[in-house]
Formats: sequence, structure tokens, C-alpha cells
Amino acid sequence: MNVLFVCLGNVCRSPIAEALLKKKYSENGIEFEVDSAGFEPYHINKSPDEKAIRTAKYYGLELTGKSRLFVKADFDRFDKIYGMDTQNIRDIKELARSDEDLKKVDYILNLLEPGKNKTLADPFHTGIENCHVIFKKLDKATDVLVEEVKKSLLV
Ligand code: 4NP
Repeated sequence: MNVLFVCLGNVCRSPIAEALLKKKYSENGIEFEVDSAGFEPYHINKSPDEKAIRTAKYYGLELTGKSRLFVKADFDRFDKIYGMDTQNIRDIKELARSDEDLKKVDYILNLLEPGKNKTLADPFHTGIENCHVIFKKLDKATDVLVEEVKKSLLV
């Protein structure tokens, strides 16, 4: 399953999710594509936020990508597109071209609590010191994702 993670700036939440899933796919010999994107043009081509980099490093994970915007073509490249909060989900869905596109979109925390539409808030508003909380939730969510993919590969 090719997976895209989306947040607002593509410098904190989605790059962490991307790096976590890439590592877990690689550790499990899974070769699908993983990427992240955002909607805020200010950060285009910039590295992830320094605090996100430091937090990831604390858990042994390197954040390497550069920020980019979500584009309609992402619906063709990816099987699942996970947003972090309600604004992300709204922004992604606005660019959907079909029901098939819409079906690919979900809240990332629905991996942990299906159907509850819980959100992983924008760290720029809730305090970037929340990076550790964000990291741990994304770690658990990507664990679930890897298990789902592993199961789907067995059948
Ligand atoms: P992210 O955090 O969406 O998790 O990357 C943010 C980073 C930057 C901004 C907002 C959220 N910003 O508006 O600049």
C-alpha cells in the first residue's frame, strides 16, 4: 500500500509519519511508496522543523525530506492518504476528483480509534514542545498500518 501523509506545513507531523513508516516498511521488507505533503506554501523545499528533527533523532529516526504541496496527482500515486486534522482532511477532499479519490482519505488517528475522527493538532498552535506526544501517536498509528499491510500481503 502506497501511503501519503498530509499536514499543513509538511515540516512536523507528516514528515515524522513518513519517516516512521519508511523505516517500518524497510525493516519488514515492504517496498511500497511512502511520502508526505502539505498545504502551506511558505515551507516549500524547506527541511522539517528543527524541533521535529531533534525529537525524531531522540528516538533514533532521521527526517530527511523537503516540504512540498499536496497535488491532485497524489490521488493517482497513493492508495491511502492520511490527514492529521480536520482542516487537512477538508483541504485534501476539496481536490478529490471522484468517489474513488475520496475513499482514499482518512484521519491518521482512525488507525488507532476507527471512526472517531480524532485529530493530531497543528503543533504551531498547540506548542511545538508537543513533538514527543505527536511522535508517540504517529509511532502507534504507523505500527497499525504496517500490521495491516503485512496481513494484506499474506492473503
Ligand atoms: P505541520 O506544522 O503541519 O505539522 O508541519 C506546521 C508547520 C508550519 C505551519 C503550520 C503547521 N505554518 O503555518 O507555518
